[in-house]
Amino acid sequence: MAVPERVVTNADLEKLVDTTDEWIVTRTGIRERRMAAPDEALTDFALPAADRALEMAGVAGTDVDLVICATVSPDRIFPATSCAVQDHIGALDAPAFDLSAACTGFIYGVALGAQFIEAGRARNVVVVGGEMLTKIVDWTDRATCVLFGDGAGAVVLQAAAEDDRGVMGYALHADGSLGDLIERPGGGSRAPISHEMIDAGQHHITMRGNETFKKAVRRLAEVSEEALAGCGLEPLDVDWFIPHQANRRIIDAVGQRLAVPEGSTYVNVDRYGNTSAASVPIALDELNRAGRIQPGQTVLMTAFGSGLTWASAVVKW
Ligand code: UT7
Repeated sequence: MAVPERVVTNADLEKLVDTTDEWIVTRTGIRERRMAAPDEALTDFALPAADRALEMAGVAGTDVDLVICATVSPDRIFPATSCAVQDHIGALDAPAFDLSAACTGFIYGVALGAQFIEAGRARNVVVVGGEMLTKIVDWTDRATCVLFGDGAGAVVLQAAAEDDRGVMGYALHADGSLGDLIERPGGGSRAPISHEMIDAGQHHITMRGNETFKKAVRRLAEVSEEALAGCGLEPLDVDWFIPHQANRRIIDAVGQRLAVPEGSTYVNVDRYGNTSAASVPIALDELNRAGRIQPGQTVLMTAFGSGLTWASAVVKW
């Protein structure tokens, strides 16, 4: 993982919009988040995250044959951020593309990378999830600006020597009929960049939070059960549950519905806020670097986001 140095606390936000630390903590569990500097962009974090993942895996960038970057807040609309990662790590001529599935993007990327490996079309795949949502949030909208943070995380996927290790299964879903629950309406071909579009604030994230909340709880529980069942597992078999870190109340409600073992749910939303596609790999890296995930343990990752999209992946560590 790689995150900006600057920490923005709820007290800092109290000076910016009509909010309180008490409201933010009670409704979301967030206490602080990381925020990129004005001159920093996604690749300032996506590149080091990819470097650190390769170093940890002991894989040379030149041996990587596919790069996937999940993001909805790239450096530039095009070319893809994954191409900058590919160039930086020296994965000469390897295919690279970005994946747009918002907060669910990293898990979609892991599933895709695993498919390439299973099909024998790739040996070493780098999957990055990264966002700079503080760059596209409306800093006058208290309903959204307090929620998000910046950062990136990455993994290296490789074929496992044994059949009972690695990405054991996954479930991916979308419901495009609810595309307007969380969106950034301006800047594309529907509302191209113009003074009028910007005056209307369409270049910012908009979210119908309460409706999103309810959908998230139900879908996250469902898709987690589906992915586990696909591997012949039950929630009680999970050693580590890594949910998308959007809201502490969502995480608690999903944990209760799923009935994963006590103490298996990893939570860091208090320190990073909602980092969208980066939230699962940041949490995974924290757990792993702390030596808390043991070989052979079952890790369940699950996420929900704009699209709507939702997905889970089960990994035998
Ligand atoms: O990552 C992608 C998926 N995204 C999510 O999963 C986010 C899902 N949604 C949520 O996490 C929650 O819905 C929020 C944290 C965004 C909002 O919590 P809520 O309990 O659903 O609150 P609400 O939107 O129903 O708003 C309750 C009240 C409103 O005031 P009134 O109308 O009751 O007077 C809001 O105006 O809270 C007000 N409010 C705030 N007050 C202080 C909204 N934002 C703030 C704020 N500070 N920052």
